[in-house]
Amino acid sequence: MGKNRNIRVRKMNLSDVDAVHEIELLSIAPPWTKQGFADALANENAVFHVAEVCTDGDEETVSQMEHSIKEPEIVGYCGLYFAADEGEITNIAVLPDWRGRGIADQILDVVFADARGKKLSQIFLEVRASNAPAQKLSEKHGFTSCGIRKNFYREPKEDAIVMVCSL
Ligand SMILES: CC(C)(COP(=O)(O)OP(=O)(O)OC[C@H]1O[C@@H](n2cnc3c(N)ncnc32)[C@H](O)[C@@H]1OP(=O)(O)O)[C@@H](O)C(=O)NCCC(=O)NCCS
Repeated sequence: MGKNRNIRVRKMNLSDVDAVHEIELLSIAPPWTKQGFADALANENAVFHVAEVCTDGDEETVSQMEHSIKEPEIVGYCGLYFAADEGEITNIAVLPDWRGRGIADQILDVVFADARGKKLSQIFLEVRASNAPAQKLSEKHGFTSCGIRKNFYREPKEDAIVMVCSL
């Protein structure tokens, strides 16, 4: 699938917490709290990115209709913690109506570029054993399975597959 021209991936800030938390509630069990995201943004060893839809129209249409431009809508996000040369993706999610359009791909491309800039050599993530879309997404971006954490998740209880990607 081609890149979405009107999707922009940028660093998350505090004013994005409400929108990101809405997506989290629809996507991840158990979800992080708003405070969890706010704490992460204050952590110098964490970097969070969001994907936002910029406008509906081409530039000409937009300049003619500036009064009607909508606020960019946050449609996805990804969090990464890092220490020394290792990173860990803590969460990645896309608003349900926007899935299947390459948005997670676009977010991960930016997260990986940022990780390379930080000279990270490996990125880890954990994914529910039943979460085929997230496993496929991870494999597409170079992650391979490197272990299982038994009953790692709660609500519902489930094993985690640990995946790693070398940069
Ligand atoms: C996993 C998730 C982030 C994917 O987001 P998305 O924007 O729909 O993904 P994309 O459209 O960018 O797809 C990228 C790749 O992911 C994989 N993928 C995405 N959705 C898939 C699905 N329903 N089934 C199988 N593979 C899927 C494919 O490899 C796809 O590449 P392809 O289109 O070339 O086959 C999204 O489904 C989601 O938010 N899920 C709930 C939250 C979650 O499970 N997060 C992961 C926790 S580790």
